[in-house]
Amino acid sequence: MKLQSQLNLAFSALLLVILTAAGFVIYSLILDMLIDDEKAELKQKGELLVQVINEQYGSMQDVQEFSDFLEEQDLQLFLYNRKQDRVLYYTMPRQFVEGFSRQDFFKDNEEDLWEIGSRKYVASRILFYPESSGMELILLTPLNDLQKVQQDFFRRMLFVFIIGAIAALLLSYFLTNKLVTPLSRLKHQLKKIEKRKFDEIRPIKASGEILEVAQSVYDMATELQRYMKTQQVFFQNASHELKTPLMTIQGYAEGIRDKVFDETDQEKGLEMMVTEVNRLKVIINEMILLAKLDSSQAEYEPENIYTTVMVQQVLDRTLPTRNEKGVEVRFDDDPDSMLFVDQEKLLRALLNVTVNAIRHAKEQVRISVNAQTITIEDDGEGISENLIPHIFHRFVKGKNGETGLGLAIARAIIEQSGGKIMVNKSELGGAKFTIQF
Ligand SMILES: Nc1ncnc2c1ncn2[C@@H]1O[C@H](COP(=O)(O)OP(=O)(O)OP(=O)(O)O)[C@@H](O)[C@H]1O
Ligand SMILES: [Mg+2]
Repeated sequence: MKLQSQLNLAFSALLLVILTAAGFVIYSLILDMLIDDEKAELKQKGELLVQVINEQYGSMQDVQEFSDFLEEQDLQLFLYNRKQDRVLYYTMPRQFVEGFSRQDFFKDNEEDLWEIGSRKYVASRILFYPESSGMELILLTPLNDLQKVQQDFFRRMLFVFIIGAIAALLLSYFLTNKLVTPLSRLKHQLKKIEKRKFDEIRPIKASGEILEVAQSVYDMATELQRYMKTQQVFFQNASHELKTPLMTIQGYAEGIRDKVFDETDQEKGLEMMVTEVNRLKVIINEMILLAKLDSSQAEYEPENIYTTVMVQQVLDRTLPTRNEKGVEVRFDDDPDSMLFVDQEKLLRALLNVTVNAIRHAKEQVRISVNAQTITIEDDGEGISENLIPHIFHRFVKGKNGETGLGLAIARAIIEQSGGKIMVNKSELGGAKFTIQF
């Protein structure tokens, strides 16, 4: 069921419960109120009558004297003598007097509702003055009349309730519509993301939480688009990177098969093929490593280790390259610095960065350790401005570059170790890589 229908249904159910409860309470109260009201009115009438009778006829003894007067009043009344338990006068048919007497309604002066057969009457009794005379005027009104008023009132109430309910439902429809419309618009935008039509995404009009959700959706879309773009670039670069050695191998292999090379060229060709195959192997291994780092499949076994020890290992392994290139490495140590990392993995990351530095340096590389920060810088030509934002992406390389995977691997490892790597210009003139844990 649609959200709007659900909300409207819930609201209608709530409204129905409230109106029914209110209606029930009012309906049952109204009769009591009408009875009280009627009693008060009867009492007033009765008192007036008693007063008139007292004034005009003085004595209560001779009923006949004022019976004509009572007749004129067109009321349902009894004149009752309490002392004698006798009804002296009545305007209702005789069987009523007998019926009420049989049920002792005259004697019991507490009873407000008199019943005869299925008919009920509201009663009010007024004592004549002086009380010792024991004379009482009893006035009755049929309850039916009151029930008619009650029903009439109920009909009106029902009418008001229905009008009110319709207005409330319209309002509810309007409000839920206002609430749901941004959601369905957002759904439209999400559909566009699903179909990867990122350029067609438009902001929607919303407020509050829905606006926040929409904002998150836009952010997600931007991130997704960026991710897809890098994936695309990655595949382009990767296929290009794999194609080049393969084409070299194919060229030499075909040449050898077709016997177009003389012996020395053939020898050189085979040599080239071996080199290229090795290069392919390296690229593929690095890609597999990156994929593993990405999917956190690679096991990460951190341990506490002195940073100096790590750097020393890097220096040991780069000794042949340094000597070959005639590059000197200066190491500013911080003997207390310790790291909690996977030693083997971090060594690989540090080596990637240091080998780059040595390769691009003129004659000097500087490695400094300071607490949880390692910097590796050189006096080479540095990294061009436009390359800096992409330097850690896969297969991104500058001039004199090789595969362009070294820094991507370094960053993946460092991030897995809870650190980050940044690149700037070095005071020495070349690039400066800062690794922070
Ligand atoms: N210290 C540096 N000075 C100047 N340029 C650098 C430096 N370090 C890296 N670069 C540039 O960044 C590019 C990417 O480096 P990265 O290590 O990712 O790849 P690579 O060295 O080309 O290949 P490999 O995957 O074998 O390491 C390099 O091609 C190089 O142009
Ligand atoms: Mg490298």
